[in-house]
Amino acid sequence: MFETRNDLSADTRTEVIRLLNARLADAIDLALQTKHAHWNVKGPNFIALHELFDQIAEQIEAHVDGIAERVTALGGTAGGTLAAVSRTTTLKAYPEQIVEGAAHLEARRHR
Ligand SMILES: [Fe+2]
Repeated sequence: MFETRNDLSADTRTEVIRLLNARLADAIDLALQTKHAHWNVKGPNFIALHELFDQIAEQIEAHVDGIAERVTALGGTAGGTLAAVSRTTTLKAYPEQIVEGAAHLEARRHR
């Protein structure tokens, strides 16, 4: 752990960093899954869902940045690589072959 002016104990910072990195992995995975839906959705509601998924991904990415920067402010290393996310995420794998808007909406419900 890196030096910091934060006055929380090292034990507390270590635990909070662990918890934040776990949620960081989930948030990055969720953002990527949402972008996957944005890029691949097809069908009669294409434009509405294409734009909706992009807006949701942008919102998630704002939280990703906040979580990651809190980790580093506490003296930790933010686990932002694909390898780190793959090891840590608790989300179910996104069904990669779905196409229809309703299928993407259903998949989003079960993350
Ligand atoms: Fe786009």
